[in-house]
This record gives sequence, C-alpha cells and structure tokens, in this order.
Amino acid sequence: MKMVLRNISIDAKYRSWRWVAVRYFLFLAVLPFLIACSGHHPKYIIGVSQCSEDIWRDKLNNELKIGTYFHDGVELRFASADDSDEKQIEQIRQFVDDGIDLLIVAPNQVATVSPAIDEVYDKGIPVIVFDRKTNSEKFTAYIGADNFEMGRLMGEYIATRLKGKGRVLEIMGLKGSSPAIERHNGFVRALKAYPSITLVASLQGDWTEESAVNAIKIWQDSVGGDLQSPTSRIDFVFGQNDRMAIGALKALSSEGTKYCGIDGLPGEGNGIACVRDSLLEASYIYPTHGDEVLQLAMNILEGKPYQKDNPLMAALVTKDNANVLLMQNEEIVRQGNNLNQLHERSDAYLKQLGNQQIVLVLAIAFIFLLLVLIIIIYRYHLQKARIAEERNKMEREQLDFYTQVSHELRTPLTLIEGPLSQLAETKDLQQAGAEASGLFAIIQRNTHQLTQLINKMLNVQATGSIDDMTASMQESIPLESHTKTAETEQPHAEDLSTVLIVDDNADIRAYLRTILQDRYQVNEAADGQQGLAIANEIVPDLIVSDVMMPVMNGLEFCQRVKSGTATSHIPVILLTARALSQHQIEGYESGADAYITKPFSADVLLARISNLLKSRLVLKNLFGVENSKDHEKAKTSNTPQTIIKEDAFLLKFRDYIEKNLSDSDLSVETIGAELGLSRVQLYRKMKALTGQSPVELLRTARLQKGRELLQTTDKNVSEIAYEVGFTAPSYFTKCFKDEFGISPSDL
Ligand code: FRU
Repeated sequence: MKMVLRNISIDAKYRSWRWVAVRYFLFLAVLPFLIACSGHHPKYIIGVSQCSEDIWRDKLNNELKIGTYFHDGVELRFASADDSDEKQIEQIRQFVDDGIDLLIVAPNQVATVSPAIDEVYDKGIPVIVFDRKTNSEKFTAYIGADNFEMGRLMGEYIATRLKGKGRVLEIMGLKGSSPAIERHNGFVRALKAYPSITLVASLQGDWTEESAVNAIKIWQDSVGGDLQSPTSRIDFVFGQNDRMAIGALKALSSEGTKYCGIDGLPGEGNGIACVRDSLLEASYIYPTHGDEVLQLAMNILEGKPYQKDNPLMAALVTKDNANVLLMQNEEIVRQGNNLNQLHERSDAYLKQLGNQQIVLVLAIAFIFLLLVLIIIIYRYHLQKARIAEERNKMEREQLDFYTQVSHELRTPLTLIEGPLSQLAETKDLQQAGAEASGLFAIIQRNTHQLTQLINKMLNVQATGSIDDMTASMQESIPLESHTKTAETEQPHAEDLSTVLIVDDNADIRAYLRTILQDRYQVNEAADGQQGLAIANEIVPDLIVSDVMMPVMNGLEFCQRVKSGTATSHIPVILLTARALSQHQIEGYESGADAYITKPFSADVLLARISNLLKSRLVLKNLFGVENSKDHEKAKTSNTPQTIIKEDAFLLKFRDYIEKNLSDSDLSVETIGAELGLSRVQLYRKMKALTGQSPVELLRTARLQKGRELLQTTDKNVSEIAYEVGFTAPSYFTKCFKDEFGISPSDL
C-alpha cells in the first residue's frame, strides 16, 4: 500500500512539475511580444477641431504637424466640421470619448459651439482656442491675431487710399463667427473718423468665394441702378478675407473699384499673389503659426509656464512688399520641405532602429527560451531517470523482500519435509529412538516458526509496510550466534570423505548432519567466515553451503574457496531458498559446482554429493604411466583425465619433484612450503586430486624414473636406486616389485 502511494505521488509530482514547466514556457514565449508592443503608446493625444477645411487651415495643420517633430510621444488627431456647428459639436464630444489629453479648437459660430467647449474644459481637459473665440471664459489659453485691430487697420488703409472720401462695401465672414464680428467692429470704428466715406453696405458672406459672389448679386439686384455713376459707384470693397474679396471682384461689374481682403496667404492664386498681380490692393497676413500653437499645448501638458492670451502679430501686404513676402515664403516652404524630408528620414531610421530593437529583444528572448527549454528538457530527463531509478529500487526491494520471505519459509519447510520423509522411511518408530525424537523436535520448532511467519505476513497486508515486515521477520527468526564456534570433527578416518556444512540455521545443520553422518565425516560452520577458516584447516572433500548468511554470505564464501590454493579443488554445493534463475546464475558465477533449492530431497542431495566426489578423482598418471593400484579404479571412472583448472598446481608439484628426485631428504613439508601449503593441506589436496598422498606420489615418481633409467642406461640397480633418492638399494628393489610386479634386475 505504501508503495502504491509512493507511485501515485511520484506520478503526481511528475505531472504537476510538467504543468509548471508548460506554463512557465508559455509565459516566456509571450513576454517578448508584450515587450515589443509596449513601446508604441503615445504620451499625449491632442485633438484639433477645425471649423472648416481650406487652404489657411491646411497651412495651420501642416505647421502643427511640423511642431510635433520637436516633441516625443505626441499624436495629433484632426477633425474638420465643414462650417457646421452640429458636426463640430459632435466631433468635439468624440474626441473626449477617445480620451484626448488636450483640445485645440477654432469654433465655427460662437454661440452654438461654445457650450460644447465648456463641457470639455469642465472635464478637466485643457482647451486651447485659436483663431476664433468662444463666448465664455472656460478655456485654458487663446492664441490668434487681434481681429478687431485688423478690421480697424484695413478701414484706415482704405480711408487713406480714398483720401477720406468715397463709397465702401463690406463683405462679412460667417455670421456669428468671432472674426466676422470683430473685423466688422474694427472696420466701422476706423471709418467713423471719416465722415465723407460711406459704408454702402455690409453684405453677409460665409468666408467662401461663392458666398461673396452670391451676396454681391443679391445686393446688386436689390439696389439696381448703375454702379458706374459717380453717386452709386463703389470705390473700395473690403472682403473680410481674400477669398471673398476675389469673389466680389468677379461678381461686381464696376470699373475703377478697388478690392482688399485679409489672410495674405502665400502660393499662386492666394492673397499675396493677388496683391502682386494687382487684383487686390492689399491684404493682411492673418497668421497661422501652428508651431507656436503646438508649443503652447506642450507647455500646458508638461506643466510648464504659459500665457492665457497669446496674440499673434500680423502685417499689411501691399504691392510694395508682395514680391518679397512671396520670395520669403518660398524659402520658408523650401526649408519646410527639407525639414519634412529630414523628419521622414529620421522617422525611417527610428523605425528601423525600433525594428532592430524588436528583433534583438526577440533574438535574446529566443535564446533565453532555448536555454530554458534545454534546461527544462535536461531536468525532465533527470527527473525521469530518477523516477526510473526509484522504481527499479522499489522493484529490487520487492524482489529482496520476496527472496527473504521465501528463504525464511523454505527453511522451515525443508526441516519439516525432510525429517518427515526420513521418518516415513523408518519402519519402526520405536527403534528410531533418540534420532526420531530429535527430528520431531525440529518439526515442532519449525512448524511454530512457520505459523509465526504466516501471521506476520497477514499483518503486513493489514499495515502495508514491507519494511516493518522485513524488520520484524528478522527479529523473529533467531539467527545463529556469529560467535558460535564451529563444531569440528575429530581427525577423520581415512576411508570416509569429509563434508563441510555451512549454514546459519542450526536446525538445517542438524538435519543435514542426520542425512550425511552415515556416509561422511561431517563438519559444521555457522557462516561463510567460519566456513572458510575450517575449509582451510581441514581441506574437506566437499562443501554444502547456504547462500543467505550473516558475516559472509554463501556466494562470497564460494568465491573465496575457489580462489584459495588449498581449497580451489573442493566441490561446492549451494543449498538455498533463492530459487530464481537469476539467483542460480549468481551461484554458478561464484564458482559453485551444484545448486540445490530448498525444500530439497535428501536423496537428491546424497546423489549429487556422491557424484561430485566420484568425478573428482581424475588425474591418475601424473608421472607418465598409470600406476597399478589405480589402474582398476581409472577403468571404471568415466571422467576426463585432465583437470584444466588444476594443471598449473599439479605441474608445479610434478616439476619440483622431478627436479629434486635424487634428494633422499626431500620431505612433504618442503614440497608444501614450496607450493604455499601446510603438510595437511598438501596431503588433502593431492589425495583429492590424484587419489594418492604426496609421499606415495613421490615414491611413484622415484620408481618411474628408476624404471626409465634401468631401461635407457647401463647403470646398475644400486647406482640408480641412489640416483632416484632411495637410501638403500634393497628397499628400492622391494618397492619396485610392489609397484610394477617385476624385479628391477629383470629389466
Ligand atoms: C479660414 C478663414 C480665413 C479667415 C478665418 C477667420 O477658414 O475663413 O479665411 O481669415 O478663417 O476665422
């Protein structure tokens, strides 16, 4: 249960981690676009509400635009009302809705448009009134020429030209617009000083040429008569702007009449050119000064000091200065164009720079994203590997757990099954006596242990903790004391092979002893370390060892037995609960000769032991010729005649003996010391490998050599006996007869 929870939490951790990574990545992906877009908002939006659309206003709008070149982050929005009050009111309100920061307005008609301008001002939006006025004080600043003064100056000019005597006609601008009213008032004021000048009529126009043409026609029709007669002739026409003055010129068919207007705009067909060409006598420059209007707006917006009233200076245009003014204007236009070009260029550069900056930001963001992606992928793989590792670990823990459990279960099972089958074979239980009661005690103890184990396992299912189970199992299963000394048998009888049992479970050892003691000398050890010490000491003929043991496990023990000079030849049977093929492979890799799993059959074990012991006696002709004693045995043995693993050891043994044959003092101790073994170890090993003791082998070697010398040399028996290490020729002769069945002298 604990493991399942752990699995769930690993998966959840994995999923939530992945989701965080995706969100983080999306955020980073959107970030550069947010950065790129954030730079395009203007700081100030200025609404420009023009009452109409004409060349004067075009000039002003253009100058306003040029004014913005000197200020960053200013956007101008233009609207033209086409001389309609309603339209202008609507446009002003729209500006407010659009969120303008300042309004520049030339109101069409004072009375109608003023309330809409008041509304804007009341909302806290600064208002600049230019050119035309409102009828309230609700504006931030006014900028424009003095229209009353302009009307007055034109009246003075006309009176002077007429030398104080004559008839004058006025064409007025749009009714209700402040310049029309003020210019008229100024004009009338000036003429008052000249009683001989008659203002024949003030006709109503609307600032356009057609309006003047129409007004003249209507007036002519109404007055009738001959405009050429000295009494009804018109000497001067004052158009409140140049366009209307030209309209009057076109409409009025009276000779000698002179015309003048206001605006004095440059450019062909406009006021100054008309004065130059004598169509108009004079004009008055009505200044636009858009750059100054914008500067005033910026001062207000940026909280800098400014004047509420900003009068613009004007100048009279006559034939005398018209050319100069036109030339000056051309220069201004040229420079204006240069400025525009420069601005366009710098605009293009700035745009390019902006694009490059965006590309740079995107590139950096992309690289960053890439790095983040690499890190995310790297961490993802690390996490995956960690999870896989955790899973593997859990699987290993599971496997270990089940191995442990099966080991613990199989041991008592072995100890129940084995004794039971042994008892079953015992015909008379009474006869079995002490042995039977010992076996019953084993069965009882192990049945109890098995019951306890099963109870513990049931507990595990309830609590879900494998770790607890493993711990408590280890507590409950009493392992043999590590310090328990090995029960070593007394020196074994020559005729019985010696078997060493290595197992930490005393019952298993006792049971194995019961099985083996009739056939073999039995020795015991409680763990691998003890087992190794005893194996080196007694060099047994065979070892039966458990795998899972404290201090040194069976696999290491087996490896060390197989690599020790004195013990390398000893067959090892691993007797264990570890039944998986993986475990068996590990066992064989450690050098084991057989692998038997618990519970095991006693007969199978006995058969395996006997087989291994039989097949071990292999090398019979270490010194060239098979000796007579082993001849019969060798015939019945079907095992190969060489032991590759032992070749090196045996060759060393043989070489040493052959070199030292003539030394009659050559002892088993000396040979053992030469090969790194004690006398007992050498004896046991040679006996195991060849079936003969080192002394017998030495004697055989001497006799073989003697026989060879007898056959190949002229030396006599005595000489040869001494040469092959015998101290008495008579003893050589006796042994020779025993070995080969013939006397040396017969050869
Ligand atoms: C341009 C114009 C000028 C005139 C001014 C008065 O729209 O008609 O000709 O001088 O407006 O506001």
